[in-house]
Formats: sequence, structure tokens, C-alpha cells
Amino acid sequence: MRLSLRPAAKLTALAALVFIMNVFIWSNYLKHDFNDVSTIVESNKHGRQQQQPVAQHVNQSEDEVTPLHKYKRSAKSFIGYMDTLKNEGEKLKKVVQVAHLEPTQLDDIYISVKTTKNFHQSRLRLIIDTWVTLARQQTYFFTDADDLEIQKLLPSGHLINTNCSSDHSRKSLCCKMAFEYDNYMASNKRWFCHVDDDTYVNIPQLVALLQKYNHSEEWYLGKPSLRHPLEIIDRNNPVQKLAFWFATGGAGICISKALALKMLPHAGGGKLMTVGEKIRLPDDCTVGYIINYILHKELTVINEFHSHLEALWQIRVPEIKNQITFSYAKYGDKNNIVRLEGFDENKDPTRFWSIHCHLFPYTKHCANMPR
Ligand SMILES: *[C@@H]1O[C@H](CO)[C@@H](O)[C@H](O)[C@H]1NC(C)=O
Ligand SMILES: *[C@@H]1O[C@H](CO)[C@@H](O)[C@H](O)[C@H]1NC(C)=O
Ligand SMILES: *[C@@H]1O[C@H](CO)[C@@H](O)[C@H](O)[C@H]1NC(C)=O
Repeated sequence: MRLSLRPAAKLTALAALVFIMNVFIWSNYLKHDFNDVSTIVESNKHGRQQQQPVAQHVNQSEDEVTPLHKYKRSAKSFIGYMDTLKNEGEKLKKVVQVAHLEPTQLDDIYISVKTTKNFHQSRLRLIIDTWVTLARQQTYFFTDADDLEIQKLLPSGHLINTNCSSDHSRKSLCCKMAFEYDNYMASNKRWFCHVDDDTYVNIPQLVALLQKYNHSEEWYLGKPSLRHPLEIIDRNNPVQKLAFWFATGGAGICISKALALKMLPHAGGGKLMTVGEKIRLPDDCTVGYIINYILHKELTVINEFHSHLEALWQIRVPEIKNQITFSYAKYGDKNNIVRLEGFDENKDPTRFWSIHCHLFPYTKHCANMPR
């Protein structure tokens, strides 16, 4: 046994020496060849040294360091280089993936709901109990009064009192939209989607829609209520008319991050309100003016968005599951609502519960729906 072990040990020692020499040569070679990499590596080296204070155990001045120590150190630095290169590569890969390749998820969407204190009980409760249950962490409510009762139903910080006036004036609408925009910008999410408090949002379909568009490109998604661009008088030049398209706020508006960034000089820090005042138009028209007239970006029409300005009863039942937003309205004694079997119309006049249970039959409260 002894006889056979000795040559083996010698061989191992030799192999180790050759390996260390190799590593030394390689590490020197790398140092020369990857000079530009060393700047990236530099920042990581400090962190690494703090975590592994190996050098402190070797309490020797530079002169006393034996060649073997030098080799060890070189080997260590070589492995360090390789680690760092690997780490940087992985990190870079992640950034690229996150930026372009990962499909949009619900959490990449910032959903803002515009409301007012008079509708907290009648409208907010209804949507909080239905579609918001599918996007609690992604939905923010912009209102004009504090409300502890509603606050309790939401994650903290999701009911935002803008202190804007509670009337339905152009100014207070733009005031809230300005807050929505600024809060979206602070969220760093891929998409900014705005709806009104009388809008039902089919969350899985909204996510599926946004997966079709690249948030790094400029997208203005929505549905106009007019068949033609809105024409206004240019107040700087009254003989001149301006025309632009805008998406109706109540149907839903989604803006990609790239476009939201472009809007910053015109909409950021409350400027959206100033623009609204200048053109004397409400919030959704103001957004259209900034995007379509100032920035020359087209509105992409999303047919699956539905505000109460269109005939909601015309949506066919088999197509409900493919639609993204719905609304409701009462004109005199005529109801403009989605027509589908479900809960009694006296109990569910908006049809939101019936829509919700039609889409998600196995959720809470839906067991009682007649089918
Ligand atoms: C290292 O050397 C210095 C001075 O030569 C001495 O003060 C210190 O205690 C030594 N540290 C260790 C860990 O031996
Ligand atoms: C999205 O757009 C950006 C910017 O134009 C582009 O670099 C990226 O490759 C696009 N991503 C996909 C998945 O097409
Ligand atoms: C609204 O006013 C209250 C009381 O003055 C203040 O605490 C709150 O921060 C204001 N909200 C916003 C969004 O500025």
C-alpha cells in the first residue's frame, strides 16, 4: 500500500504545482487582456474582501511573502475574476430579460381609479368587492376626502386623498389625473392604466392585452367616443383649429412607460392641470391633447374597452369573456347596461356582479347566482 501511495502522492503534488503555475500564468494573462473588465471588477473586489478577510490572517509584509503565497493569491484572484465575470454576466442577462423579454405580468401594471367622496359607498364598494379582488396590490384610488372605512378594505396607501375639489369640474378632474400620473411615474411600473369608479375591469384580459405591446415603445391604448378627432379653437391663434384624438377615460386608458416618460415635460409635477386649464378641457381630453397633438403619437383603438357612452346592451354574451372593460349608466328610466342572465336586476342593477360571476364562477359570493 505504502509503495503505491508514494508515487501517487508525488504525482498529485506535481499536478498541483502545474495547476498553480497554469493559474498564475492565466491570471497574469487575463489581467493584461481584460483591462477594461477590471474597472467593473474593482467595485466588487471591495465587497468580496470585506466578506472574506483572508489577507488579515497572513500577517506579513509584502517583502516577506513567499512565492507560493503569491501563487495562491494569484489563483485566488483568478477565481475571483471568473466569479465576477460570471456574476456580471448573470446580472446583465437578468437586466436584458427584465427589460425586454419577460412577458408583462399583473404586477407590471399600475391601475388608477378616479373617484370622489360621494361615490365611495355606492361605487367603490362594488368594484372593491368584485374585480379589485383580483388586483388588490396593483390598484390605487384617487379621491378627494379621507375615508377610514374604505381605507380599511384596501392595502395601506391605496386610497389617496388628492385634496382636489370634489366637484365634477374640468379643473378637479385634471387635478386628480395629474396626481394619478405623478404617482404612476413614482411606481416605476411598465404600464399606467386609468379607469373611472364605474368601470369593471376584466383583469386577466387586461394583462393579456398588455402582453401584446412592448412597454419600451410608445403606446396610447384606449377607445374614443367620437368618430372623429376633437376640434378645438387654438387660443393662441383663434382663426386656427386644433384637432386630436382622445381615449375616453371611462372606457379605460393605458399608456406605456416609454410614452409616459415622453409626457413628463407636459404632464409631470402637476403640469397636466395647467395644460387642462389652457385648453379648457377635462382630464381624458387633456391626455389626448398631450399625446396626440403635442407628441404626435397615435391612439391605438382597443375595441374591448367599453364606456357607458356606447350601447352596452349590444355586447353579445359569448363575447363577454373577451372584453376588457364595462360600465353602466342610467338615462332617465332607461338603463344602459350589459345584458346577461345572472343576479336579479334589482339586486344587481349595474350587472357588475353578474359579469364578475360570469367570468369567475368559482369565486366567493358567486355560488348563489342563478345559472
Ligand atoms: C500583525 O503584525 C502587527 C505588527 O507587526 C501586530 O501588531 C499585530 O498584532 C499582528 N496581527 C496578527 C493577527 O498577528
Ligand atoms: C421592446 O422595445 C425595445 C425598444 O425599442 C427593444 O429594444 C426590445 O427589443 C423590444 N422587446 C421586444 C420583446 O420586442
Ligand atoms: C391632503 O391634505 C392633508 C391635510 O392637509 C395632507 O395630510 C395630505 O398629505 C394631502 N394629500 C396630498 C396627496 O397632498
